[in-house]
Amino acid sequence: MKAVELFEGIYWVGAEDWDRRLFDSLLPLPEGTSYNAYLVKGEKYTALIDAVDPSKINFLEEHLKEFPKIDFLIANHIEQDHSGLIPFVLEKYPQAQLLITPTAKDLVQSHLHVAENRLRTVADGEKLDLGGRTIRFIHFPWVHWPETMLSYLEEDQILFSCDLFGSHLASSELLVREEPLAIEPAKRYYAEIMMPFRKIIQKNLGKVENLPLKYIAPSHGPIYPRPEFIIQAYKEWIADKPRNLVVIAHVSMHGSTEKMVSHLVQALSLRNVEVRPFNLAVTDVGRLAISLVEAATIIIASPTVLTGLHPLAAEAVFLVNALRPKALFAGFIGSYGWKSRALDQLKTMLDSVRFELFPPVQIKGNPRPTDLAAINNLAEEIYQRHKKVGLI
Ligand code: FEO
Repeated sequence: MKAVELFEGIYWVGAEDWDRRLFDSLLPLPEGTSYNAYLVKGEKYTALIDAVDPSKINFLEEHLKEFPKIDFLIANHIEQDHSGLIPFVLEKYPQAQLLITPTAKDLVQSHLHVAENRLRTVADGEKLDLGGRTIRFIHFPWVHWPETMLSYLEEDQILFSCDLFGSHLASSELLVREEPLAIEPAKRYYAEIMMPFRKIIQKNLGKVENLPLKYIAPSHGPIYPRPEFIIQAYKEWIADKPRNLVVIAHVSMHGSTEKMVSHLVQALSLRNVEVRPFNLAVTDVGRLAISLVEAATIIIASPTVLTGLHPLAAEAVFLVNALRPKALFAGFIGSYGWKSRALDQLKTMLDSVRFELFPPVQIKGNPRPTDLAAINNLAEEIYQRHKKVGLI
């Protein structure tokens, strides 16, 4: 294992994680992931930008064998998949200084137990002169922790963006070669990690757009040799206006709710409203999250279990509430056996989003023609609301 020299004096010292299938014990990783760490050599000083996940310590250790001296360890973000090996690097290079944002100070001390005398906080816009190479620190909070920053290598016009613009994708190619193949992993990453902070990204994206840029080098997934590709994609994802798209997150136990969902899918399709149903019993929640990026309406379809939502539906509602997608409308449909409080439960759970709720269609037992007519009415109402807000 050798460090990869990307450009003269700039190395990739990260690790691919081909087999990882779950992040945070929550997010599916169908294509694995990578932890990118970069080493930048100046005429006087050498800086390491981020580290790798502790599980990949052997990769970092091998890569760093080529570099007897590191003067600065720049930690753009303190989540453990990049920072967990900070103590290891600081021990290996006793002269190295850890550079972080002021907000990160408490985090490196509480999470990593770094001694005060090893760290230095950097201000927004502060520059680090490595000798012939200058790194400018750009505070960019909440992508996706409060302490996050980006590091911009001025002379080479490379932005080391940490999680921002990243993708969970293990690849033998360190640079994006085929943009169409790169977009889905990047969108999945945005949906799962960045979407709750959409408004903050809107506010801060200008700091990146205005930079002369040759490359964006995130800390997960490949490097973008055409930065405008991923910046433009982000601009579309964070924009306020959704698409004429309905996402239906559904689960059924004995088929009644499933009949309602099938009918709604058909009724929406007949009205030229795009619809994507996700059967929660089998779906990859990452694919559901991707669709939430642009959906205008979210429908939760759930039977009633012990008077409440089916647990899989409750999980989907929790996800929607946490990811805070830009959708304008939401609805609830489902069947119950004898009594249900599922709708009340759903309303209580959706406490961080402000969707306009369509009248629910909740029925007892197996749907009758009158129940399916109510589903038709819901489809018509969705169509009319989408039309009214200019999506059709
Ligand atoms: Fe890749 Fe937020 O850590």
